[in-house]
Amino acid sequence: MPVSFKELGLVNTREMFKKAMEGGYAVGAFNFNNMEQLQAIITACVEVKSPVILQVSKGARQYANQTMLRYMAQGAVQMAREMGSKIPIALHLDHGDSYELCVSCIENGFSSVMIDGSHLPYEENVKLTKKVVDYAHKFDVTVEGELGVLAGIEEHVSSEKSHYTKPEEVQDFVSRTGVDSLAISIGTSHGAYKFKLKPGEKVPPLRFDILEECEKRLPGFPIVLHGASSVLPEYVDMINRYGGKIENAAGVPEEQLRRAAKSAVCKINIDSDGRLVMTAMIRKYLSEHPSEFDPRKYLGPAREALKNMYIEKCKNVLGCAGKAE
Ligand code: G3H
Ligand code: 13P
Ligand code: ZN
Repeated sequence: MPVSFKELGLVNTREMFKKAMEGGYAVGAFNFNNMEQLQAIITACVEVKSPVILQVSKGARQYANQTMLRYMAQGAVQMAREMGSKIPIALHLDHGDSYELCVSCIENGFSSVMIDGSHLPYEENVKLTKKVVDYAHKFDVTVEGELGVLAGIEEHVSSEKSHYTKPEEVQDFVSRTGVDSLAISIGTSHGAYKFKLKPGEKVPPLRFDILEECEKRLPGFPIVLHGASSVLPEYVDMINRYGGKIENAAGVPEEQLRRAAKSAVCKINIDSDGRLVMTAMIRKYLSEHPSEFDPRKYLGPAREALKNMYIEKCKNVLGCAGKAE
């Protein structure tokens, strides 16, 4: 039986983005695959009174099972309400790669979907995105499209080279597809290896000129930034100290994200930072407690550190803390 996101207590992203645009901040879109990640995201956002987008990739859906995910999201809403919180919570499909996947998510209670046709020729991207929008809007589900390609190797998103968004295409794309938000490529990429830096070299600045051109052509329209993990050095170091091997990892400096959050960027996607925090904390715990085998013992501290990381992001990077009073 199909279920509407409204029955699960979720909201779409329309109102969230309107407020973010007016308030000069961005809402965090945090990926989750398991219970501890979801608990960390929700408890962090409840604590700092922040709106939040719970983000699920195709891979996460396969890992956790779509029915399980739907009830997890419903449980997360219920948990927030029992904590006395009214924060708006959206459930969003990250990098949907087909019409059928988007339909299935909408029928399973997602309040927002991304159709990522960024790798397709322009006209095909328009056609696919419009098809998803036409279906989604019948159920008041919001849709994110993408123009420009981010580099990065991930299960379902894989490109060696990035292609910046062409500002001259954005107006045509938005008006012909009817999307509610647009992801653009301005120099970020997915994963923990965003920039290939030579020794002593600094991370290059994001292409704010492209962002500004897009803003000019789409006044008041919500822009989305993918690949926005900072690849927190503290946790990369911790992973390496406790037996891991993550070399030459580099992410987007937080001050650049702060600048983006103040602009028309209303949604900032963060996944890798959460993965790094969790891995570092588990490695540390197991290395210091080699005889421990109760998963709660090592997942508990990882969940706590994750929660603190999300609190920091909301307060000091995205600016969304306190915006859901
Ligand atoms: O941008 C992609 C997200 O980080 C999700 O990655 O497909 O490995 O779940 P995933
Ligand atoms: P990161 O890999 O930088 O966390 O980006 C996540 C993302 O864009 C999810 O869609
Ligand atoms: Zn992404």
